[in-house]
Amino acid sequence: MSMTRRDLAGLAGATLLASATDTGAATPATGGTVTPTPAQQKLIDAAQDVRQRAYAPYSHFQVGAALETEDGTIFKGCNVENLSYGATICAERNAVFQAVAAGHKKFKAIAVIADLPTPITPCGMCRQVLGEFGGETEVICTNLKKDVMVSSVGALLPAAFDFDPSKYK
Ligand code: THU
Repeated sequence: MSMTRRDLAGLAGATLLASATDTGAATPATGGTVTPTPAQQKLIDAAQDVRQRAYAPYSHFQVGAALETEDGTIFKGCNVENLSYGATICAERNAVFQAVAAGHKKFKAIAVIADLPTPITPCGMCRQVLGEFGGETEVICTNLKKDVMVSSVGALLPAAFDFDPSKYK
């Protein structure tokens, strides 16, 4: 029997964080929706704001992300597409790279928003990039309907690739 992408997502979903304020299922793969805290809502608002600046003439799919650093600074990123499609950058990585360029490497949380029926979860490449800076970072996934699903980079990247570069000199 062949495995669909939904089957794979369902396996990963087993490790997602639950919340005391769960109000229902976002999707079978992503766990329940929650009511955001004021701090989470602030980050969602920032992601929604920058989403308007997405450059998505090819997919017409606009994504916004807002990344909060350890000291409370917020960096925003939107997706920026390219005619050479592979040169496109996702909203999440755009936000991470801006934060790193400004001297930050410790991240508290990232909020991501797009116009989907269920909260958008970061793509695999963005999970990997976020994972470079730690699995504890909270990932606040949402959509324009204000469904919110909260997870973490570690939970979204199970069995992550890992090795000690110093052992391979
Ligand atoms: N995209 C993001 O910005 N973040 C994601 O997590 C998934 C995909 C963008 C890339 C591309 O511009 C468009 O959404 C469609 O894939």
